[in-house]
Amino acid sequence: MVLHRRPDYATILLAGMLIIYFSKSLSAQILNYNSTAYVSTSWLNHPSQMANTTDMAFLAPILIRGNNGPRFVCGFYCNMYGSSCLFGVLIFQNFHSHKNIPFMQFPQLVWSANRNYPVQTHAALHLRQDGDLVITEFDGTVVWSSNTRGKPVLGLNLTETGNLVLFGKNNETIWQSFDHPTDSLLWGQKLVPGQKLIASVSQTNLSRGLFSLAVTFKGLLAHIESNPPQRYYKSGFYANNSFEFNRGRFYGWDIPYNSSAQFLKFEPDGHLKVFEWDGMNWRQIAELLKPEAGDCGFPMVCGRYGVCSKGQCGCPDAVKYQSKFFRQMDSKHPNLGCSPVTSISCDNAKDQSFIELKNSYYFAFDSSLYDHGTELGECKTSCLQNCTCKAALFAYGGNGTLKGSCLLLNEVFSIINNKNHMELFYDTSLFVKVQFSDVKNLSHRKVILASILGALFASLSIVGSCLVVVKKRFQGLKEIEMDFLDQVPGMPTRYSYEMLKYLTKNFSRKLGEGGFGCVYEGILENGTKIAVKCLDGFGQVKDSFLVEVKTIGSIHHVNLVKLVGYCHEKSHRLLVYEFMAYGSLDTWVFGGKENLPLPWHVRRKIILDIAKGLAYLHEECSHKIIHFDVKPQNILLDEHFNAKVCDFGLSKLLEKDQSRVVTKMRGTPGYLAPEWLNNIITEKVDVYSFGVVVLEIVCGRKNVDWSRTEEDRHLLSIFKIKAAEEKLQDMVDQKSEDMLVHIEEVLDMMRIAAWCLQSDFTKRPSMSLVVKTLEGLVIAETNLDYNFTNSSVVRMAVVADQEQEAVDAATPLLSSILSGPR
Ligand SMILES: *[C@@H]1O[C@H](CO)[C@@H](O)[C@H](O)[C@H]1NC(C)=O
Ligand SMILES: *[C@@H]1O[C@H](CO)[C@@H](O)[C@H](O)[C@H]1NC(C)=O
Ligand SMILES: *[C@@H]1O[C@H](CO)[C@@H](O)[C@H](O)[C@H]1NC(C)=O
Repeated sequence: MVLHRRPDYATILLAGMLIIYFSKSLSAQILNYNSTAYVSTSWLNHPSQMANTTDMAFLAPILIRGNNGPRFVCGFYCNMYGSSCLFGVLIFQNFHSHKNIPFMQFPQLVWSANRNYPVQTHAALHLRQDGDLVITEFDGTVVWSSNTRGKPVLGLNLTETGNLVLFGKNNETIWQSFDHPTDSLLWGQKLVPGQKLIASVSQTNLSRGLFSLAVTFKGLLAHIESNPPQRYYKSGFYANNSFEFNRGRFYGWDIPYNSSAQFLKFEPDGHLKVFEWDGMNWRQIAELLKPEAGDCGFPMVCGRYGVCSKGQCGCPDAVKYQSKFFRQMDSKHPNLGCSPVTSISCDNAKDQSFIELKNSYYFAFDSSLYDHGTELGECKTSCLQNCTCKAALFAYGGNGTLKGSCLLLNEVFSIINNKNHMELFYDTSLFVKVQFSDVKNLSHRKVILASILGALFASLSIVGSCLVVVKKRFQGLKEIEMDFLDQVPGMPTRYSYEMLKYLTKNFSRKLGEGGFGCVYEGILENGTKIAVKCLDGFGQVKDSFLVEVKTIGSIHHVNLVKLVGYCHEKSHRLLVYEFMAYGSLDTWVFGGKENLPLPWHVRRKIILDIAKGLAYLHEECSHKIIHFDVKPQNILLDEHFNAKVCDFGLSKLLEKDQSRVVTKMRGTPGYLAPEWLNNIITEKVDVYSFGVVVLEIVCGRKNVDWSRTEEDRHLLSIFKIKAAEEKLQDMVDQKSEDMLVHIEEVLDMMRIAAWCLQSDFTKRPSMSLVVKTLEGLVIAETNLDYNFTNSSVVRMAVVADQEQEAVDAATPLLSSILSGPR
């Protein structure tokens, strides 16, 4: 609440008197309050100090509910001066009396009626005979009403779930606070399409702020309500009918819970958090919205015009222009943002120019707002010509094209320094409009020069920092080689068998089963879920096990499943992986019963994720790693449909300069590249398998499907025929309607698959080229040979299928135990 006003001594005195009053009547049994009231009742706002919060809020309780589970109170909730009170519902757990004065500990406001129209002491709540619930200010003016006048209301009830209900004769609900959410949700409360959570202005000003969160058919969307609204978060999926917050779930997110005293709150800074009572205080136990750019992806993380870089805030031109154009709002608090030294004026539009922030990005990812196919010059001109435009974001098209995508902004919120997210976003620049105060002082040419110098400086510093990183990495690796595994930070943790037994509750929750043992779910002490893979009966592999664990454990990439620990004890060999909530890709692509068909943009992202993971294994690791067993069962999904490649244990490590090796055949039939016959094995075998997986994702079926008729069985044969007939769209999975809407993109994807499936492995692209193509930076090869299914390979695959055990046995033991097919 507001703390900036001078204390109103009369109120404090009044409050003091009331404390004494309350201490007499309430000291022992605070919960003697009713939870129901009937029409023709009024309550005056006489707050007493019943809350124990940092801002020393006051509360005038009206109804209280709850002996077990979460407790709720509704009443007037005031700042310490009593000058700003809201009628609302609060959740609380503990109360105690202190020197005979009862305190509710840290009650939290979860709903309020009049958040935009706070009232003062002597305001009142009336439950009128005519059915209306009304708040009047001390002078009698109506500030809020439930608009239920004339309805057959019998009374007001505060339910066990914290819902404030106006009910009728037959106990039917006529009006309820759950239908009018403010910034919080309680267990059992829904956020349905059409409703929004609106965050408060700040922790102390509880009026409606700028951030909104809504459920729509496109997913869960978070906006900052500028003009026009700018979106900073979109869930990667549409979770059908899961709008209710309850028992550890909200909109597809799993939320831990130890008690039912929880609430979900959309915070003034645009974060969505879940709080739980831990016996002493309200503790944050989950944070749900996670923009791709991390914390820098929140629109106000550095205030307006603030530049966010690795969590630090600065002004746009701090280095380059000695802050000629911007200054910090508050030098002690850089996160409050910056303001133009000379405000942008429509009267002096001719004295405006831009400063270019290279490698900068903006949180507004909604691509429908962008003007695609614009040239840089046009983009800047259209911003200069429109005096309400404050900045232009330009995303370069890449591949030498002049055209890119342009976004004009009427308001500039926090800017993302993109250097840390290079691989995440396209090459972009933000052009921030500035106003010259004195034109003669600074010629246009100087600014351009300065910006060129600035750019040069910036790129030099990028190169510099890369060098530093590379050098550090190099040193890091050497250290790891010398040190014993257990002592290296960042390397997998060593667990005892007893510990893993405990963490997996005695291996009770099986996630899956493979040729080499089972995978079990476990939970670490800190609540993080893990997947524990048991490798049965390989006690004799000793030293090499640790070597392999070391290699896998040193590989970190967002699109690779992380190895977090292992167990190496007597005959026990276990690997501990990060937990992936949505399981393996096959259950989603091959139409598992419980899983919805994936929309196109999700499939597209999964494909890109797999490509990035493999590109990393092939080209960016210190040792080149060939996976050898790329297939949907080895692609795992997290709760945001981020795909990660797992089980790169079948792979044989290659030294970087050694591009070809001859090995025995490995992998899974159906995904094997034809060159297995010739024994010339390069990382292109993964590219081939990737091509098969892409085709399976697009077509929504298995490569070889024995449940189908002979001519419909082999996906690659159909692909060849349909390509010849130019009827590729016949193959597209139509279980999700939007596949045909995006048919052009889908067909492009099938061409990329065909490129990866080329029989001649030298014609296949590298995985990094695939990534660039998927990102639209490179055009896919068009001169393709669709003759990829040569029946001998399929026949061989079939034979190999029957001889799977033999193949496994032929594989060197070490590389396969770490990742048998699941
Ligand atoms: C608030 O609660 C804490 C912890 O229970 C207690 O130490 C403190 O005295 C309380 N403050 C007031 C004003 O009662
Ligand atoms: C709270 O914020 C609103 C909206 O920004 C503003 O209009 C109002 O004056 C603020 N209230 C106080 C008491 O500062
Ligand atoms: C440009 O001008 C139009 C009105 O002429 C306005 O609606 C629009 O928001 C302005 N700003 C931008 C950034 O396009």
